[in-house]
Amino acid sequence: RDSAVNQNLLEDHTFIQYKQQVENLKVVKERLNRPLTYAEKLLYGHLDDPHGQDIQRGVSYLKLRPDRVACQDATAQMAILQFMSAGMPQVATPSTVHCDHLIQAQIGGEKDLARAIDLNKEVFDFLSSACSKYNLGFWGPGSGIIHQIILENYAFPGALLIGTDSHTPNAGGLGQLAIGVGGADAVDVMADLPWEVKAPKIIGVKLTGKMSGWTSPKDIILKLAGITTVKGGTGSIIEYFGEGVETFSCTGMGTICNMGAEIGATTSVFPFNNSMVDYLNATGRSKIAELAQLYKKDYLSADQGCEYDQIIEIDLNTLEPHVNGPFTPDLATPISKMKETAEANGWPLDIKVGLIGSCTNSSYEDLTRAASIIKDAASHGLKAKSIFTISPGSEQVRATIARDGQLQTFQDFGGVVMANACGPCIGQWDRQDINKGDKNTIVSSFNRNFTSRNDGNPATHAFVSSPEMVTAYAIAGNLGFNPITDTLKDADGNEFKLKEPYGVGLPPKGYDRGQDTYQAPPKDRSSIDVIVSPTSERLQKLEPFTPWDGKDAERLPILIKAAGKTTTDHISMAGPWLKYRGHLENISNNYMIGAVNAENGEANKVKNHYTGEYKGVPETAAEYRDAGKKWVVIGDENFGEGSSREHAALEPRFLGGFAIITKSFARIHETNLKKQGLLPLNFVNPADYDKINPDDEVDLLGLTAIAPGKHLTLRVHPKDGEAWDAELSHTYNSEQIEWFKYGSALNKMAAAKK
Ligand code: F3S
Repeated sequence: RDSAVNQNLLEDHTFIQYKQQVENLKVVKERLNRPLTYAEKLLYGHLDDPHGQDIQRGVSYLKLRPDRVACQDATAQMAILQFMSAGMPQVATPSTVHCDHLIQAQIGGEKDLARAIDLNKEVFDFLSSACSKYNLGFWGPGSGIIHQIILENYAFPGALLIGTDSHTPNAGGLGQLAIGVGGADAVDVMADLPWEVKAPKIIGVKLTGKMSGWTSPKDIILKLAGITTVKGGTGSIIEYFGEGVETFSCTGMGTICNMGAEIGATTSVFPFNNSMVDYLNATGRSKIAELAQLYKKDYLSADQGCEYDQIIEIDLNTLEPHVNGPFTPDLATPISKMKETAEANGWPLDIKVGLIGSCTNSSYEDLTRAASIIKDAASHGLKAKSIFTISPGSEQVRATIARDGQLQTFQDFGGVVMANACGPCIGQWDRQDINKGDKNTIVSSFNRNFTSRNDGNPATHAFVSSPEMVTAYAIAGNLGFNPITDTLKDADGNEFKLKEPYGVGLPPKGYDRGQDTYQAPPKDRSSIDVIVSPTSERLQKLEPFTPWDGKDAERLPILIKAAGKTTTDHISMAGPWLKYRGHLENISNNYMIGAVNAENGEANKVKNHYTGEYKGVPETAAEYRDAGKKWVVIGDENFGEGSSREHAALEPRFLGGFAIITKSFARIHETNLKKQGLLPLNFVNPADYDKINPDDEVDLLGLTAIAPGKHLTLRVHPKDGEAWDAELSHTYNSEQIEWFKYGSALNKMAAAKK
């Protein structure tokens, strides 16, 4: 029965695999012999090897086969360039690319979009042509924000999606596991490697009662963030359950899952329910809804008696609207306490800007509820006191509210409708109303409010709340305002209270898809050229890395002996370097510029072993490479902690590095190095780190017989004095050893496909 149902309306070659997932689950259930949570069923249903996989929550590493991959425009560039270097004719897993992050909000939707297309033409052309060539769906600029497009078109109950963006979990609102990953993981799955993740723990959030009045789904996650803090969900999936689960719209559940990223959760998910059926029907996917209902018992529901690692309970009957911030999303304040809290903390009460929309909160329901408040205020002769902006999550939502009148309501109120893109949420905001450094308050319905995130001004106090509350704030212009208890003055000076918001979950006349911004890959892709200008500053094709020469390495110089904490930010800085994310040569100029040289305590100043000259780390590395010399890095504890940034491993490989030898590695960075064909090795005796002098030369011995669990030898040749040996361990399994031999995981994968 599965094979008849496509995953979506846009592809004819991708099918739902419930049957296979149920079979996998049977195997796992026999082995574990215990009831499973909803999230566990989805995870284990996607196991690469249900028979052999070790399964222990919080301990084992699961190898999974996701149904899809999604990338946004900023992270897609290097992911696709890497995929191209593997020489494969097309992606092995259905994938899409979404242009949303590179569009700056300046004056309003259409003009901003035209400007962004012009500025980023090269990157968009590259992504568009690569998608056509390698069989990926391409959502061009103006189509909307990745997570809304996924929810509207690709998400379905029971699926497993990985996406190169932290708010990928948004699709948990449609009953699927949607997980944010780094680009290297996306490339693996595109290239048919299984995806590896530490088996998450499962936190159950029990929802009782029913919300009413000014409270909205956003308040659940704002409240939860206050309970768990930004780290409380780390290594865990948040699974919602309880009678309250049945009381939201699908898009409301999406909002809650979206912001699970703010508490560090691997992902968040709601079990399959009736609102999901309604949403699937409203978005033209009734066949999926029907199929899902058939599998509700076997697959798409938690087992009776399943156990969570932790349970948190939230009573919806008493839940108040919340406002979180400033500067962190877990500083939660209920609306009844906001005035006194803001005054006590000296937060500016005057609200300069209210921003609604974004991937978190721009559903039809959100926008109709916001519009209902505005209409009420307008009937009393009021307009926005603060600047008010609307970022529609997708072209479909924009076109639907344009047709149904809410867009006009926003504009009449004084609102500025931005492009269907991330805009101010990711700092793509040319804010003009204040000067940098001015202390001020803004309130948004977005998800993150870290210092400087929205406007680059560290003095901006950014708060996150529901679109309803942001709208009420924009009318009142004051952070101390509580719409539940406080009155406003109408145009004639008479006092009145705002009516409670009212909205509808789904558009009664159906969705209007608006402009067609989707580009399907053509059937015949043989003649397509991927456009990368050789003179480009922002993009550069990747050449496959050279395979290992089959010999032990001798007399290698030490590029740098790094002292202390060396995070991925020290290894490959962000900030101004972000624009080179698609250009390995240019971004390699930031390699290790933040790391401290143990020799002189300085950053980005190392001695060339052969010339004695002091220069920057990337320059020196390139000099060694150009002279045909491989090199090594010596590192301290937990080397490469931080993000999953694959550039931190690509750069040393590009610059001719051979091995990174440390006291210990952060796991993801260690795997990334292996994937790029570099050797991550550990001192068996950590004290050997101290014995090494940056002036020494080293041999790496035992490589010709490299095997899982077998130690290697580092022979150290001091400038003056006797050579000595240090024992090195590694964590390679036999498959990973092949990556090293072939020069990279992608080389190995490409060879296997030939
Ligand atoms: Fe974009 Fe902000 Fe969402 S950057 S993907 S709108 S979190």
